Amino acid sequence: MSILSPTPEAIQAAAKSIRDGKLVVIPTETVYGLAGNAMDEQAVQLIYDVKGRPNDNPLIVHVSQTEQAKAIVREWPEMAEKLAEKYWPGPLTLVLPKKPSVPDCVTGGKETVAIRIPKHPIALKVISEAGVPVAAPSANIFMALSPTKAQDIEPEIDLEVEFILDGGPCEVGLESTVLDLTQSSPQILRPGGISRAEIQAILGRPLGHVPPGSIRAPGMYPRHYAPKATVILVDKLESNMPGLTFEQSENNLQIEMPSDSKSYGVRLYGALRQLDLKQVDKIYVQRPPQSEQWEAVMDRLQKASTSLA
Ligand code: TXA
Ligand code: MG
Repeated sequence: MSILSPTPEAIQAAAKSIRDGKLVVIPTETVYGLAGNAMDEQAVQLIYDVKGRPNDNPLIVHVSQTEQAKAIVREWPEMAEKLAEKYWPGPLTLVLPKKPSVPDCVTGGKETVAIRIPKHPIALKVISEAGVPVAAPSANIFMALSPTKAQDIEPEIDLEVEFILDGGPCEVGLESTVLDLTQSSPQILRPGGISRAEIQAILGRPLGHVPPGSIRAPGMYPRHYAPKATVILVDKLESNMPGLTFEQSENNLQIEMPSDSKSYGVRLYGALRQLDLKQVDKIYVQRPPQSEQWEAVMDRLQKASTSLA
């Protein structure tokens, strides 16, 4: 595999690859991203092709400074300013009306663009050196588990990119929260690294609720983030079941998960991947508590356990 340590030379090379219309895998604090120049239609199309992702599923645009975000949107509401001040760089993506200069292919033909400033120092360096906004969906094949360390990148992705920059294990482990600021009431389209409570505290108002199970945006599919094995949610694991438990593990295919939601999120994809590697055909997951803190984890577990049929 072409994994490089993040030396200054490798960071420069990654930035140059992006400027030249090529793809690289970069670490972020959430998950590893498949990165290309967001303003280059061919590079963006390559991202869709490599992932096998439908073209109507918009990509998140990553920038290194708030000014760079403002330069690609038609409006920068007060709410965006407050949230950016508090949570950028960080795992919060804001959906805003796009300027015409943002290619339609990045936004899946929509008039809005999703933007964030990632917190990982290597991602920030690559983006600022590249000098262009960077489209970066998770570096996995469409619908599969997102990679949370360099070694998780599948060969299908590895073969199509210049190289993978190793930034160590991801600190958050789940994707960013996607917040739509284009509606009269702000709405979470995808729960993630920043919680509903954290956003509400900054905005001083409750966020709209989208009915569970509804497809909230193009690209929000009922099945997603799924391991190869079938995921089944249960109240408690029986001693012979492979899976994720909050209790003491009773066989070597049971993984004990942390009881706080953030640490659980950090471990989740890695734990599912570990069981996939052991080639189990079912992964039983002990249902987490039904509180708001667990919203992002529950979202991923629900999507992972939805069958395509
Ligand atoms: O944590 C993350 O956000 C990771 C890392 C690599 O930064 N990136 C990521 O990107 O998850 P991506 O492109 O896979 O996320 C895209 C999701 C879409 O599925 C869609 O739900 C939402 O973000 N999205 C993107 N653009 C949108 C738009 N214009 N309107 C509504 N939702 C949008
Ligand atoms: Mg993804």
